[in-house]
Amino acid sequence: MDIDGLRSRLDSAGQGHLLAFWDTLTDSEKQSLYKELDHMNFAEINQFFETAMQLSKNAADKVDDLLEPLPAEVCGSVSRTDAETLEKYNSIGLQAIGSNSVAVLLLAGGQGTRLGVNYPKGMYNVGLPSGKTLYQLQAERILKVQQNAKELTNKDCEVPWYIMTSEHTKEPTQEFFASHDYFGLKKNNVTLFEQNLLPCIGFDGKIYLANQHKVALAPDGNGGLYKALTSSTVLADMESRGIKYVHVYCVDNILAKMADPVFIGFCLNKGANCGVKAVEKSIPTEPVGVVCKVEGRYEVVEYSEITLKTAEKRNSDGRLTFNAGNICNHFFTMDFLKTVTDPSTESKLQHHIAKKKIPYVNSAGEIIKPTEPNGIKMEKFVFDVLRFATSFAVWEVLREDEFSPLKNADGAAKDTPTTCRQDLCSLHRRMMLQAGAKFVHKDGSEIPHIPSNRNKAEAGDGQRTCEEFNEIVCEVSPLVSYSGEGLNSIVSGQSFQPPVTLELDKDGKLQVSQGINKS
Ligand code: UD1
Repeated sequence: MDIDGLRSRLDSAGQGHLLAFWDTLTDSEKQSLYKELDHMNFAEINQFFETAMQLSKNAADKVDDLLEPLPAEVCGSVSRTDAETLEKYNSIGLQAIGSNSVAVLLLAGGQGTRLGVNYPKGMYNVGLPSGKTLYQLQAERILKVQQNAKELTNKDCEVPWYIMTSEHTKEPTQEFFASHDYFGLKKNNVTLFEQNLLPCIGFDGKIYLANQHKVALAPDGNGGLYKALTSSTVLADMESRGIKYVHVYCVDNILAKMADPVFIGFCLNKGANCGVKAVEKSIPTEPVGVVCKVEGRYEVVEYSEITLKTAEKRNSDGRLTFNAGNICNHFFTMDFLKTVTDPSTESKLQHHIAKKKIPYVNSAGEIIKPTEPNGIKMEKFVFDVLRFATSFAVWEVLREDEFSPLKNADGAAKDTPTTCRQDLCSLHRRMMLQAGAKFVHKDGSEIPHIPSNRNKAEAGDGQRTCEEFNEIVCEVSPLVSYSGEGLNSIVSGQSFQPPVTLELDKDGKLQVSQGINKS
């Protein structure tokens, strides 16, 4: 250990306080602190801090005047596209998957602070009848989309799954997948890789210590992806497999469609090298980024960086001017990914700052848990590369079909385990209805899904009859259907008494369970 060398580097970067407790540390504590500090580039970290603080100062006000809505020609929408065209996109997407050109990449390095669990969010079970976790649902959707592509193309195909973790999520995620036998996927098609961490810094530019021998560190944001892709072997692996298109998505959306063929088909049909999925924003203050243009380039302006004035802007028809809500689903061609991961481009991505309450060690060596923000975490955002797109596409999907994120613990108003469970059941009920199924009471009478005068007369309360339908627990395994396809031949003309589950057993045989309430 060259402690004098390290001390002098720290002193000249104004971070000498990080060795304040050195003389009191045990040998092993000294070693771990030395190891942590020795590979840090303090000049670079200080530079990141200066630039990020500067950028954030006037960012929102500056961006406000520059924001432009999306031009119609880059947009498409599920609800305004006819069935034939949707089928065309689906088929283009499945052809791409069938020719082993598509990979999915999961951003799972976040700390999930708002949800408040001490394990990775993907391992969360929202209380579905099957008890499946987010990771299992995602794995099964990949299995099913592979099978659908095979049925169309008559070729075996694989969709490799790359999962970006961080120091906090890597080990438990690894163990979870191994202990569940990769949920039926091939082990060599599931690759975990780690993003980098950056120090948490006080408003005065001083790096915090988490304890006397450890720096306070946090993941460098989901835009840390681009650095992590090249510092790991992931990009090279994608290339060696002949991957041409990558679908990047975030871990918490229970309705996320991995390698969504319709989205991929839409982007390919547009000839886009970069695409995003969006939903119409529900209210001006909804915490979603908005997809828009800034100074002629495509961007997502994050909810933390847009002013209320701009978020509330409306067109003459009353719709929000900036209404394309980002749901963290991105399509990139491999060529585009290679461009943006090149250090000459990656280094142009600036860190955003998040003001946080950062636990730290004070000069007396005590750990302090602040009640007010006392510093910043620096993060790059995954969508910051959009501005480099030369051909861009935005696919607007229906919120009720594709967006229900798990952000908060139960008790919060939205985006909780309960709302995720309800939204998935709602989607599956609608898939079953669409395929010709009926839901019935114990006595065989139908549970109506549309309140009508007739229902009102019968039940005395039209609202109640519909509420009953909305509470039906219904879960269709992704192994049975990815987005409603194939259900017709299973459920058409049949009646089901809730709760209803459709699952495949180990031998691939359909198991239908109904009318049994599990306690
Ligand atoms: C994110 C989007 C926001 C969008 C919203 C929709 C970003 C920067 N913001 O916001 O525009 O409207 O989702 O739900 O994408 N993650 C990492 N490493 C990190 C930090 C996060 O991999 O260092 C992952 C998380 O595990 C998660 C995803 O990125 O899968 C999104 O992170 P989160 O912090 O939940 O983003 P939001 O603030 O909800």
